[in-house]
Amino acid sequence: MTSNRVHRIQPSRTVEMTSRVAELKREGKNVIRFNVGEPDYATPEHICQAAEKAMSQGFTKYTPVMGILELREAICMKLLKENHVRYLPDEITIGAGAKQCLLAALLAICNQGDEVIIPYPCWVSYPELVKLADGEPVMVPGREDFTLDISAVRKAITKRTKAVMINTPNNPTGVVYDRKSLEELAALAVEYDFYIISDEIYEKFVYSGKPHVSPSSFSEEIRERTILINGMSKSYAMTGWRIGYTAASKEVICAMNVLQSQMLSSVHSLSQKAAVAALTGTQEPMQSMIREFEKRRDYMRERLNRMRGISCRESMGAFYLLPDIRGCYGKSYRGILIEDDMQLSEYLLEEAMIAAVPGSAFFAPGHLRFSYSNSMGQMEEGMDRMERALQKLF
Ligand SMILES: Cc1ncc(COP(=O)(O)O)c(C=O)c1O
Repeated sequence: MTSNRVHRIQPSRTVEMTSRVAELKREGKNVIRFNVGEPDYATPEHICQAAEKAMSQGFTKYTPVMGILELREAICMKLLKENHVRYLPDEITIGAGAKQCLLAALLAICNQGDEVIIPYPCWVSYPELVKLADGEPVMVPGREDFTLDISAVRKAITKRTKAVMINTPNNPTGVVYDRKSLEELAALAVEYDFYIISDEIYEKFVYSGKPHVSPSSFSEEIRERTILINGMSKSYAMTGWRIGYTAASKEVICAMNVLQSQMLSSVHSLSQKAAVAALTGTQEPMQSMIREFEKRRDYMRERLNRMRGISCRESMGAFYLLPDIRGCYGKSYRGILIEDDMQLSEYLLEEAMIAAVPGSAFFAPGHLRFSYSNSMGQMEEGMDRMERALQKLF
């Protein structure tokens, strides 16, 4: 009785993994979670206080569909100051997280069969969101080092190309696209007249001085073709507050607002006030979190590279490492033979009680995705366990 649409979509494999780990935890198993896609930090105090204040003042009703003006103005200020691109408040719309913004944007631009090019490895949800919007995901491989392969993107362009969907800093690779490749992509967007959907949710998580670049800042022409998606979840440890936003041309934003008026009415009122505090208040808690993440990244990468069968590239951003685990193929322990990333993920969960997501969920078979959003203590313990489990294979 359920729709064909639902049958075309795969459930999120990262969410599935999270539920599985939660179940093991409930059974009293001491699983170390390297699968998590959210900061392990608490939402900073001043942000929570802003929501408490709003609640005590009775700010508990519907808000405008596109979000409160105060928040949209704060976003415009942020985009101007940090991303060097000027938007007006009516070129911004607030959604229930970046994921919901991505879907609303795709619904707003895609007609049946329109193609959306997705460079991979990519976040699990991208192809499914495109399918939900009746579009066709066109999967295009990145380069060997996971950077953007512009010539592969160019080859994939057809008359039906509606958008190219990118994510920098990238989940799951940690790659930060450089300005040059983004400029080349932007030039293609103008030449072939398509949108760039730019998911910038990990923009604050950049290390080693490599800056995040927003393609919308290149020129007015590019800004018109960019659908910039961002949100509070990762930068401010606010995943549960569900605040994302889209900045785009008025035409796209108006279309999204029509959809949102029927899908959402408006986003949680208190969360919007909290988001204003996040953007306009002190940035120090977020900055110190990022400094800590950089240390964790270095520690985890070094530990992974010391393990037999594992080889981990440098990662410049987000909070993930995507080591190549193919060196473990053909190895076995107690009758369990490792032949792919799913089997190794399963083996590590059973044998070492550590959870890492198979790379094939992100179109990166032969890899595992590790999140370093975990305390140093847990990381040390988890890496020790993994090392012992792998030693048994060799
Ligand atoms: C690349 C990417 N985009 C968007 C999201 C969703 O963020 P939000 O919590 O704002 O919906 C995630 C969450 O994991 C992500 O990894």
